[in-house]
Amino acid sequence: MTEAILLVGGRGTRLRPLTVHTPKPMVPAAGVPFLTHQLARARAAGVEHVVLATSYLAEVFEPYFGDGSGLGLHLEYVTEEEPLGTGGAIRNVASRLHSGPGDPVLVFNGDILTGLDIRALVETHTSSGADVSLHLTKVADPRAFGLVPTDADGRVTAFLEKPQTPEEIVTDQINAGAYVFDRSVIDAIPADRPVSVERETFPGLLAKGAHLQGMVDSTYWLDLGTPQAFVRGSADLVLGHAPSPAVPGPRGERLVLDGAEVAPGARLTGGTAVGAGAVIGEGARVHGSTVLDGAVVGPGAVVRDSLVGTGARIGARTVLEGAVIGDGAVVGEDNELRDGIRVWCGARLEAGSVRFSSDC
Ligand code: GDD
Ligand code: MG
Repeated sequence: MTEAILLVGGRGTRLRPLTVHTPKPMVPAAGVPFLTHQLARARAAGVEHVVLATSYLAEVFEPYFGDGSGLGLHLEYVTEEEPLGTGGAIRNVASRLHSGPGDPVLVFNGDILTGLDIRALVETHTSSGADVSLHLTKVADPRAFGLVPTDADGRVTAFLEKPQTPEEIVTDQINAGAYVFDRSVIDAIPADRPVSVERETFPGLLAKGAHLQGMVDSTYWLDLGTPQAFVRGSADLVLGHAPSPAVPGPRGERLVLDGAEVAPGARLTGGTAVGAGAVIGEGARVHGSTVLDGAVVGPGAVVRDSLVGTGARIGARTVLEGAVIGDGAVVGEDNELRDGIRVWCGARLEAGSVRFSSDC
């Protein structure tokens, strides 16, 4: 069966402070490092050999996943000394591939949560005879993505990464971050220098008349590149809206890992995940949120669509809505933090020091 490359070397800057100590694919979503879901889905589609292309905080992947046998995979790791970009990273792992020149190789961005039918993408690739096949999805605002218009047969006609002008917004169809490459196309990417597959390889292939095939569908799809998307993705995994064989427990309103302590009068809803050793106090209400290992949510706190980092402490009655609290931060009681606020790792907020409203 097909082998896969997973691109996991990005710096995850938009996800800070979650990615200060942890590379984006290792931040827990629904109780396990996000990458686990992608690996488990690939395995379920018949993939057995996966090469992880690492760069930023590369050293943390192997101690956790080892040789991959825990997931039924053969996993290898290749680290770039300097980040080589998406195309350079793909080329840099070519020597580890087992596939022959005409064989299909799967490539995945490491921050996508999706219900993609991986076998169907490989099938599209094989039956269309394309050089590269791309999973495409439609989004309301495509500006943060790679735009991929196709013709009536699904053949890609252009690739416009992060369009800058309104004229470039020619479609709502975007690159969903999963590809099948012919092995020979990977070998033709220049080695040992940074290459962007989106800005250089795909436009270059199109200019040469290569066949790029799109497969558009309307399955679940989310790029977990921002804190709000990450929290949404985790909740959707817990609720069962996003499919993964790796969620460690039954789907439902909440996922509470072993060793967490939840007071009897606390309410956990909307796909909330509570990590090992975390404590949720009496009367606290936590909705659609991720509370990582060892974090403490005080009595009467209200946490919505937020992430509380490893070992962070949220004081009694504090309100978090759309907030990200970095690892080890301490938010005193009676604070009110909203609207995308990011509290840095280890920061301390005194009791009653931040409010968004005047009357509560
Ligand atoms: N090994 C390695 N080295 N990996 C990298 C590097 C690098 O230098 N740079 C980025 N990556 C990895 C990231 O870790 C991520 O998994 C993937 O490549 C894509 O990088 P992002 O930084 O997440 O890109 P993006 O979200 O802005 O855009 C990409 O994804 C969109 C879909 O979510 C592009 O592929 C867009 O065309 C696409 O629409
Ligand atoms: Mg991304």
